[in-house]
Amino acid sequence: MAEQYEAINWNAVEDQIDKATWEKLTEQFWLDTRIPVSNDQDDWRELAAPEQWVVGHVFGGLTLLDTLQSQDGMVSLQQNIRTPQERAVLNNIQFMESVHAKSYSTIFSTLNTPAEIDEIFDWTNHNEHLQYKANKINDIYHNGSPLQKKIASVFLETFLFYSGFFTPLWYLGNNKLTNVAEIIKLIIRDESVHGTYIGYKFQLGFNELSEADQQELKDWMYDLLYDLYANEEGYTNDIYATRTEWTDQVMTFLRYNANKALMNLGQEPLFPDTAEDVNPIVMNGISTSTSNHDFFSQVGNGYRLGQVEAMSDDDYKF
Ligand SMILES: [Fe+2]
Ligand SMILES: [Fe+2]
Repeated sequence: MAEQYEAINWNAVEDQIDKATWEKLTEQFWLDTRIPVSNDQDDWRELAAPEQWVVGHVFGGLTLLDTLQSQDGMVSLQQNIRTPQERAVLNNIQFMESVHAKSYSTIFSTLNTPAEIDEIFDWTNHNEHLQYKANKINDIYHNGSPLQKKIASVFLETFLFYSGFFTPLWYLGNNKLTNVAEIIKLIIRDESVHGTYIGYKFQLGFNELSEADQQELKDWMYDLLYDLYANEEGYTNDIYATRTEWTDQVMTFLRYNANKALMNLGQEPLFPDTAEDVNPIVMNGISTSTSNHDFFSQVGNGYRLGQVEAMSDDDYKF
């Protein structure tokens, strides 16, 4: 008797969050090629060399993290799904991580010379702090428990990205590089759903653990966060310290987002920092709910695919 291979049935959805997340993610689908980044070339030319360096290298770092999510992260999470629909959602996330990783290259090819692009990738593939966090997370993806993998993923999605996101949001708040920022806001909108969804799946598993096992995993989680935070301090210094005056503001932004990552995982915040402590210019940029479609160029991050209507019998009458 052959084994039974089961078809995914979207009419018998066990967890409505899977369906709602699928719908949200597919509705907010986008591609980097639809954003007119070349409109930012005048702004770019006006930036001083250290500012251009910061922009290029934070995007190098972000490329590495999105590459990790697309190559190892989602595959690793797919080994421990609760429902077949969860796998489908993770497939969507995995593809969008490839779009994210590619979109930085779209920005590079518009703003940077080939020699600059080579240098950015070389730096990215060798910077000590960047490599530390990528390898730390990747090691958990390959050797961690199912719940540890979800913690690593949420920390990456909701915390580690933000040392890089700070820069385009800061320029956006100053009305510069607005098309580049549009791409970043679309990425942030995706990451926000990814972090929430994977955090939710984490909580389902976490709530099934005994109190002792919960405590043990919590200790592991906070240790990991401290470790990543210390590394992020080094990374933030590498990028910002000698070229900008933003280092302290970036660290505040990181602590604020670390708390959000913990919140996604259903845990208590670790740091005292709240939204009020974050530079309001950056905060304004991040509030994707107040998307200002008209303020931007052709494609706002309020971009939507056309609503798909269910076929009715009338559609078949010609
Ligand atoms: Fe991403
Ligand atoms: Fe993501």
